[in-house]
Amino acid sequence: MKLAQRVGRIGESATLEVSRRAKALKAQGEEVFDLSAGEPDFDSPKVVVEAARRALAEGKTRYTDGRGIPELRQALAKRFARQNGAAWSQDQVLITAGAKMSLFELFMALVDGGGKVVMPSPYWVSFPEQVRFAGGEPVMVPMRAERGFAIEAQPLIEAIDAKTRAVLINSPGNPTGGLIAAEELRILAQACRDRGIVLIADETYERLIYGDKSHASVASLAAEMEETVVLVGSFSKTYAMTGWRIGYVLGPVPLLKALTKIQSHSTSNPTTFAMYGALAALAEAEEDVLANLAEFAARRTLLVQRLGKVPGVTCASPDGAFYAFPNVSAHFGPGRTDSIELAKYLLEEVRVAVVPGAAFGSPDNIRLSFACSRETLTRALDRMAEALSR
Ligand SMILES: Cc1ncc(COP(=O)(O)O)c(C=O)c1O
Repeated sequence: MKLAQRVGRIGESATLEVSRRAKALKAQGEEVFDLSAGEPDFDSPKVVVEAARRALAEGKTRYTDGRGIPELRQALAKRFARQNGAAWSQDQVLITAGAKMSLFELFMALVDGGGKVVMPSPYWVSFPEQVRFAGGEPVMVPMRAERGFAIEAQPLIEAIDAKTRAVLINSPGNPTGGLIAAEELRILAQACRDRGIVLIADETYERLIYGDKSHASVASLAAEMEETVVLVGSFSKTYAMTGWRIGYVLGPVPLLKALTKIQSHSTSNPTTFAMYGALAALAEAEEDVLANLAEFAARRTLLVQRLGKVPGVTCASPDGAFYAFPNVSAHFGPGRTDSIELAKYLLEEVRVAVVPGAAFGSPDNIRLSFACSRETLTRALDRMAEALSR
């Protein structure tokens, strides 16, 4: 069998070996303290489940408009108009099978023939792989750990060249929890507009922000820079709806038309009754969102405090999302020469599962998720501290 060249352009995830081993240990009945989760450990809100159940009972089980149900597109357009003064119409909203599919379609629409996508590093694993898959070239621009991996406009702007098709940011960010400040976002968006380049903002973690920080959404620039600003969002993390596979993209009309074409020949509409669940989430699940946020905030405090007590580990307090991204390079040595080996070591020695930073372009770090109980966090951190002291 001869596989297409595009498959060869994407690699197997560097984290796969560790997660495979963690799964195998769990299957053998071993207790694993799992800090590797990329999804909330909460149930989807009851109102959402009920709405989907009702939709099923009412026979909402057929194809819909390929762009998603108009009610949901309209609700999202209204939401961003109300909150951010965005002027996106319902026709500038596409519902997709998760934000991952939004991004995939965007790169398929924007990038080919080595076209570049500039992005901050550390980055979410799928960003560069999706760009490569589409025939493009990801350009990673390092952000500073001492600034909590906040996204800075200037180095990203400097990386733009004649082959750049888009700049991609993710705030709050996976794996760092770093944010982009409103003024940096404006500078970056203006630079993209001046060069006729699209700015894609992945705002999947928009509601998960801690302390006195706030979310700077690209939606607030959409009225002014409508031609070049694109927002990607998701119901997965905000509403604990990862398995529902509902995401969305808002942006300029010609781009949305291109995405609609791609979607019409790939997934067609996202699952019909799941979209009715998402509609209920927007209208009725605020209490759930706030309760989950409060729990995440408490866990974040716990995690950061505990990490601060582990000698040789430095960690910026994450401003958003549900991950901490400590630098553990002081603990590299024989048998644990990099983040992948260190992650294996933690799993084998003390049954703590973490994701090596190498997967996110940052080999000195590991990603710890706090989408797990406080008890798991406490016990995992105790074990980690002990293992690293050896
Ligand atoms: C930064 C980022 N974007 C997008 C996604 C994908 O979200 P969805 O479940 O909506 O496809 C994730 C999921 O981990 C993510 O971390």
